[in-house]
Amino acid sequence: MAKLTYLSHSGWLLECGNHTIAIDPFLEGNPMAKVKPSDIKADFIIVTHAHGDHLGDSISIAKANNATIITNFEIANYCSAKGANAHPLHIGGAHGFPFGKVKLTIAWHGSAFPDGSYGGTPAGCLITSEGKTVYHAGDTGLFMDMKLIGEMNDIDVALLPIGDNFTMGIDDAVKAVEFIKPKLVIPMHYKTFDVIDVDPQEFAQKVQGKGFNAKILGIGESHEF
Ligand code: NI
Ligand code: MN
Repeated sequence: MAKLTYLSHSGWLLECGNHTIAIDPFLEGNPMAKVKPSDIKADFIIVTHAHGDHLGDSISIAKANNATIITNFEIANYCSAKGANAHPLHIGGAHGFPFGKVKLTIAWHGSAFPDGSYGGTPAGCLITSEGKTVYHAGDTGLFMDMKLIGEMNDIDVALLPIGDNFTMGIDDAVKAVEFIKPKLVIPMHYKTFDVIDVDPQEFAQKVQGKGFNAKILGIGESHEF
């Protein structure tokens, strides 16, 4: 049994294998967030890229929880230099952790830190724990290799950005679902800012029209699988 709780934007808590993994915990300065960084209890944190709305509060949460940040090599070095524990991975590489396996996948986007310094390449991630696989796409446009990700992985839940402007919009995200073929897709990265204010119901209806399952989670809501 695994449990995903929506923190808002692209932020999640994944409870699996007796561990809690925070993904892209952006809370401070996030107009939609309902919890504070100090409310987050996690032993691992996955960061998909260095943009402020994804790196977010990862470093302070890592230090407060003695958690390990799992992210690309460049972001891992940055976090280590700021005193957090970090495990570096890079695109295509997987590593086993106490809760299961994390593999970084490609994402078409940017990854500079808020101060402009180099944050390596952006990523998505595949998290496998106790036979369940979650795919968090990070921030990305649609790409054909999502088909390969779908072919090679039996994905229980896909977390896909739908907000347009910075990432896939609704129609591209629906095509992504057709490529990935997850058992369930949950949309993310919408409504946080005016420029990404799209309707998740439209996405869910279009996904269902293609014969796939979609679920919209409100902020603070959870999905067990
Ligand atoms: Ni971004
Ligand atoms: Mn973003």
